[in-house]
Amino acid sequence: MANRVPAGPTGLPVVGTSLEYADDPLGFMERAAREFGDVVSIDVYGQEVYQVTDPEAIRRVLVGNAGSYRKPTFGDDEGLAGLLGEGLLTSDGDLWRDQRSALQPAFFGQRLDAYASEMVENAELTGASWSDGDVVDVHAEMSQLTLRIVVETLLGVELDGMERVVADALMDVGERFRPGPQVFVPEDVPTPRNVRYQRSVQTLERVLRELRRQHEGREGDDVLAILLRQHEAGAVDDELVRDQMMTMLLAGYDTTALTLTYAWWLLADNPDVERRFHEEVDALDGPPTADDLADLDVLDRVVTEAMRLYPPAYVVYREAREDDELCGFRIPAGSVVSTPQWVVHHDRRWFDDPWSFRPERWTDEFRRELPGFAYFPFGGGPRKCIGDGFAVREAKHVLATLGRKYELDRVTEAFDLVPLVTLHPDGPVEMTVRRR
Ligand code: HEM
Repeated sequence: MANRVPAGPTGLPVVGTSLEYADDPLGFMERAAREFGDVVSIDVYGQEVYQVTDPEAIRRVLVGNAGSYRKPTFGDDEGLAGLLGEGLLTSDGDLWRDQRSALQPAFFGQRLDAYASEMVENAELTGASWSDGDVVDVHAEMSQLTLRIVVETLLGVELDGMERVVADALMDVGERFRPGPQVFVPEDVPTPRNVRYQRSVQTLERVLRELRRQHEGREGDDVLAILLRQHEAGAVDDELVRDQMMTMLLAGYDTTALTLTYAWWLLADNPDVERRFHEEVDALDGPPTADDLADLDVLDRVVTEAMRLYPPAYVVYREAREDDELCGFRIPAGSVVSTPQWVVHHDRRWFDDPWSFRPERWTDEFRRELPGFAYFPFGGGPRKCIGDGFAVREAKHVLATLGRKYELDRVTEAFDLVPLVTLHPDGPVEMTVRRR
């Protein structure tokens, strides 16, 4: 086993680089990799983390040696683990394994095909609420749309006009994770932000109880139907039903809404790509069916490239259960490892001109030659996103359905990115919708 200890930025006495990290996490991660290489020791809010950006080493952490790693707890029940409890994203061990295999059928094969019509109908509903020349906040529009879709498909019920309340509550929950010195303030200290957070969690819990009530007596193969059958059989309790519903809500709408927001934004600034996208979707006989998606090559590259440039999940963390070795460095048991999509997706070794939106780079040959974990928007290995197929289809159905009717132009000229739990635009993304 190697003995080399990774170097990294040291920062100021006492606080180290915590404040520098909190001020600009994305820039900090990039600089650390540029200056210190593929395994760097960095300070994330006072926690020493080994940042790993070599694709083969990432594969080892997430796939090859996945058994030696687990989801980190960061030592407390605050934050995401507190909110999502024993849901799929945050649980571990046998409970996670049993739940993953119980819920899996809702995300694969024909079930996914069956969601196509709900995805298209909901996109049409959003389109019907737009008029030529309207200026909309695309991020807000896409959030409400993906929220309706996830509730109708995976939870098998309807939000019935509650999408605004839920989307606002979810935004406040996300704000709890905004980088800055305030992340050091414990959750139960009644700062305005913490009070808003607690209130929003209560709102969400109320909505979840209402959705669960709506589902009573309905049959189905959706996630909630599976959970309620397990509940009836005594295999899961109310708390776990709540945790899984909260997880589906949180994990299932925001990431796809962000993918869509960035895709619209990028299309608007790249007229050649936008023209090819429109030609492709215009050639369809009607709204895209599940079968159509396989033939929409431009659309596929647009979605792939949007998630490269702006990966909604910008970093994945693990904790070593036992000693490991990565790129010749010792990773002692108990240390936290980060694999940041944000850094790897913009690495010149894998992507020419990495900060430009170039969907055409995704040729078959390029895909074949790209190291596996140079591009991993959905993570990998046993904990890979369960919703990857769902999300990609949803993004494509929505872009194609709305793209047949509308072109979106930028009003907001630029925005900063803020890494909350996911990678958010810092403020509204206003665009004008033009009827085509
Ligand atoms: C573009 C959209 C999406 C992106 C970029 C994304 C990204 C990710 C990533 C990177 C992970 C792995 C986290 C880790 O290894 O620690 C993950 C896990 C997960 N995602 Fe997604 N996701 C997306 C959409 C969805 C959707 C639509 C759902 C539906 C509910 C979903 C549900 C989950 C769940 C439940 C997990 C935990 C899986 C497990 O540990 O067994 N995601 N996602």
